Amino acid sequence: MNILILGGGGREHALAWAVLQNPKCDRLIVAPGNAGIAGIAETARIDIEDGRAVAEFAAEAAVDLVVIGPEASLAAGVADACRAAGLAVLGPDRAAARVETSKSFAKELCDAAGAPTARYARFEEAGPAREHVQAQGAPIVVKADGLAAGKGVVVAETVEEALAAVDAVFDGPLGAAGARVVIEEVLRGEEASFFVLVDGEEILPFGTAQDHKRIGEGDTGPNTGGMGAYSPAPIMDAGVTERALSEIVRPCMAELARRGTPYSGVLYVGLMIEDGAPRLVEFNARFGDPECQCLMIRLGAQALDAMQACAEGRLGDARVSWADDHAMCVVMAADGYPGAYDRGTEIRGLERLVASSGQVVFHAGTALEDGALVAAGGRVLGVTARGDDLRQARERAYAVVDAVDWPQGTFRRDIGWRALD
Ligand code: AMP
Ligand code: GLY
Repeated sequence: MNILILGGGGREHALAWAVLQNPKCDRLIVAPGNAGIAGIAETARIDIEDGRAVAEFAAEAAVDLVVIGPEASLAAGVADACRAAGLAVLGPDRAAARVETSKSFAKELCDAAGAPTARYARFEEAGPAREHVQAQGAPIVVKADGLAAGKGVVVAETVEEALAAVDAVFDGPLGAAGARVVIEEVLRGEEASFFVLVDGEEILPFGTAQDHKRIGEGDTGPNTGGMGAYSPAPIMDAGVTERALSEIVRPCMAELARRGTPYSGVLYVGLMIEDGAPRLVEFNARFGDPECQCLMIRLGAQALDAMQACAEGRLGDARVSWADDHAMCVVMAADGYPGAYDRGTEIRGLERLVASSGQVVFHAGTALEDGALVAAGGRVLGVTARGDDLRQARERAYAVVDAVDWPQGTFRRDIGWRALD
């Protein structure tokens, strides 16, 4: 079969790598891809936020499955356009992707479905939002309502910080994304990411992971897209997983179907778990990055079978068999990230590393310039390894990280510390 993957980050490199393990895959095209992806698959230059362009390209290339990586494509209705053209797609239509693209929509969906989540209020103007913050006191969580590339959430420890966050939403650089604000109670507990495939009706658990969003060791400093992850998440035991399914995932997916906007694709269920009780922090309408890198190195070829079954509405017959293994991804970022960082610094030493089913360097922001591999983004590499236990996965991942010759790169030494130390 012919497969088209949209996106060009570490997540999409991992998806491409897994898809290529499966002998069913005859042809793989990734748009736009990156330097690492270009080493294993065809890449194409199309506007991946233009549904019609994607659908036309896919039809011409006789694509059997479109896998949509980034949320921006989902928000732009690329899945709708592909489905309308008769293509099998992994990724929800725009209406169902609102679980991610509008935080207030997700909260309202939880209310309608009776799913446990943080208590919240929604505001369209700064004045009443500020009054609400004053009345509630700190700590408190302030969220811009729309997509904000991971930068729309402030967990404020003081009222001043919360007020500043409210002002930033209405006047700040987030612009249109911040036209509305959601203010929530702070949830306590341990976070985990739970992935499920949903085909409109059936739900198939697709792995768990924990990621490290902060730039600094010990989970300090500003939020990033994610500096590392590991899978499985020890806290997601059978009991918590079943509660997350029965209390959150099934009722919310049933409510979307009831409204005539069924969800079809990967659902990222961000949970806060306290005393064995999961509560929803957020939904994302896609795989997490770098969580996906951990899932894909563990799943290998079977990832394609499950994603295809999901896209074709056959999840009821699909199975995933998990090995008793663990994976870790350590992100190497350009110095300065998530603030301003340099592009174009050269990365050496990757050619010496042997990729195997146990360790892969997934590329995120990389490019080739005059034959040299250079950094072309904030998060640049996702060094991912598998092991019999998490400790072994960590040893393998950091051994590879230490072999990468990139003085302008930075990374956290403590990925997995909660589970290991
Ligand atoms: P979100 O974009 O909603 O996932 O928020 C980003 C991060 O902010 C989450 O991964 C949590 O670490 C944190 N966060 C969001 N909402 C809450 C909440 N209600 N209580 C505690 N932490 C939160
Ligand atoms: N790693 C968090 C995310 O992809 O949203």
